[in-house]
Amino acid sequence: MDDFYRDYILDHYRNPRNFGQIERPDAEAEDLNPLCGDQIKIQLKVDDGVVKDVRFSGKGCAISQASTSMLTDAVKGMKLEDVAKLNKDVVLENVGIGISPTRLKCAMLGLRVLKSAAIGEIAGWPDEE
Ligand code: FES
Repeated sequence: MDDFYRDYILDHYRNPRNFGQIERPDAEAEDLNPLCGDQIKIQLKVDDGVVKDVRFSGKGCAISQASTSMLTDAVKGMKLEDVAKLNKDVVLENVGIGISPTRLKCAMLGLRVLKSAAIGEIAGWPDEE
């Protein structure tokens, strides 16, 4: 991994963007990386099908936290349906392509959670029973 991506990842890890909770989120999802148990929760505030605010919380390695932080920055102002269609390319663009398959699983955790939240909201699934 080159220095640019290493520094960029460390910056997001040390100063995560959009870290915290939304009091009354319109959508939320949570998941973990089964390889390590690290966990991420993402909450969305949605207005007229557009992501107005996003927060994440949880614990994990530098790559999972940084990748999620980058994603939260990217999706503010995006249509929910576009968030639901994001694929791993956006993650690779964020963290750089020189990461190992194991690290890629770390990097994908936030995307998986984000898409679950977006798809759940689109489908109108209840957040909780
Ligand atoms: Fe757990 Fe990376 S080691 S998400």
